[in-house]
Amino acid sequence: MSSVDMETMVSLCKRRGFIFQSSEIYGGAGGCWDYGPLGVELKRNVKEAWWKAMVHDRDDVVGLDASILMNPQVWVASVHVQQFSDPLVDCKACKNRFRADNLKETKCPDCGGELTEPRMFNLMFKTFMGPVENDAAVVYLRPETAQGIFVNFQNVMSTSRRKLPLGIAQTGKSFRNEITTGNFIFRSREFEQMEMEYFVKPGTDDHWFQHWLEQRFNWYVKLGIKKDNLRLRPHAKEELAHYAKGCYDVEYLFPMGWSELEGIANRGSYDLEQHSKFSGKDLSVFEEETKERFVPYVIEPSAGVDRSVLAFLLDSYHEETVEKEKRVVLRLHPALAPIKVAVLPLSRNEKLVPLATEVHASIRGCFMTQYDDSQSIGRRYRRQDEVGTPCCVTVDFQSIEDKQVTIRDRDSLHQIRIPIETLRATLLAKLAGENFDVLPPGGSLVTGGKS
Ligand code: GAP
Repeated sequence: MSSVDMETMVSLCKRRGFIFQSSEIYGGAGGCWDYGPLGVELKRNVKEAWWKAMVHDRDDVVGLDASILMNPQVWVASVHVQQFSDPLVDCKACKNRFRADNLKETKCPDCGGELTEPRMFNLMFKTFMGPVENDAAVVYLRPETAQGIFVNFQNVMSTSRRKLPLGIAQTGKSFRNEITTGNFIFRSREFEQMEMEYFVKPGTDDHWFQHWLEQRFNWYVKLGIKKDNLRLRPHAKEELAHYAKGCYDVEYLFPMGWSELEGIANRGSYDLEQHSKFSGKDLSVFEEETKERFVPYVIEPSAGVDRSVLAFLLDSYHEETVEKEKRVVLRLHPALAPIKVAVLPLSRNEKLVPLATEVHASIRGCFMTQYDDSQSIGRRYRRQDEVGTPCCVTVDFQSIEDKQVTIRDRDSLHQIRIPIETLRATLLAKLAGENFDVLPPGGSLVTGGKS
């Protein structure tokens, strides 16, 4: 399990500008969260890492950005209108509401009052399209991004001139009117998904299902999640949708226990068949080589951006004692860290400022950087550690003489002194994973105490 409890993480996220309660000055908006200056960088980095692995690094996957509002028939075909519901009970005394399937007791967990009989509650948010608010104008905020992919399958196939197997990936907001939200950003009413529908020829689906199970598990490991905190859990028969051939959850050991980060399902041809039936459009493909026509099967890895952000934050959190003081450090993978390099002049002395500004200007186009000259250098190091900045560059008085700066490594606390002219290339190499103690020409290891 991660070494930090949820309360500590919520407090760090608020204090350091990662995540705030939505509309906080008005008392909040139930189950909605806002990402602050550092949180938005982290979240963008998570989505970019996913996009790179799923789209840019592959020849068989393309991207899509479908609209959130769709023709309401989409949600009839996908049976969300009929079935996307959870059982809801009300407490007759305190009026609080609960998901019946999450309750262990038969009384209200808040006041012990009597509960109503469960009734099904549809999780889709409704709104109206156009100026008239009647039944004919009802549309839904999408509860998943996947349907935008299915309804564009033919468009993408024909315009990208691709053959199967073909994946279509998209990231974006989804909305679910969850009966109970909680565990910080784990379950909210507005969240982001990273979904990919991988269309394959029936008969090859088992192979591709295995492929995506491995790929998706390894994605989290490569970005730093400890293997011990991650598992693939197969769905039991009764959990599986009637059409699904198989489904696994990638689970993370959150402070509240093992919980879902991502679902990976073999959905057969169900989705395309449903949309074919309801739209009247033929969504089958013709395979030239075999002269066969068939409706593709779909393998779907469907991940939550917010849950991934939470897992990366929790898993990277470390507390240790350095020089008799507590150090909190987020050991985030450099690709995810919101700030990659902090430039810290030893002081605000007017002799140092021009060089420090010049050093900062020479690297800021390459990385997300921060220039920080307030308070003692020790406190500034701690601030950067707590938000996961992998490298701190210190400009001191000697730098004016020898045109060298010091780089401090967040994890080992090792320091190297290198010529300013090699700084950009050295930082690029360190952030790409080069051993920190490897030195550029003219560089040296700084010996002495850790800070
Ligand atoms: N298209 C399939 C689909 O949407 P899902 O298991 O309902 O499957 C996929 O959702 C992922 O979306 C989940 O694994 C989770 O990471 C994320 N997710 C779902 N509901 C969420 C919520 N209320 N808050 C935050 N993330 C959520």
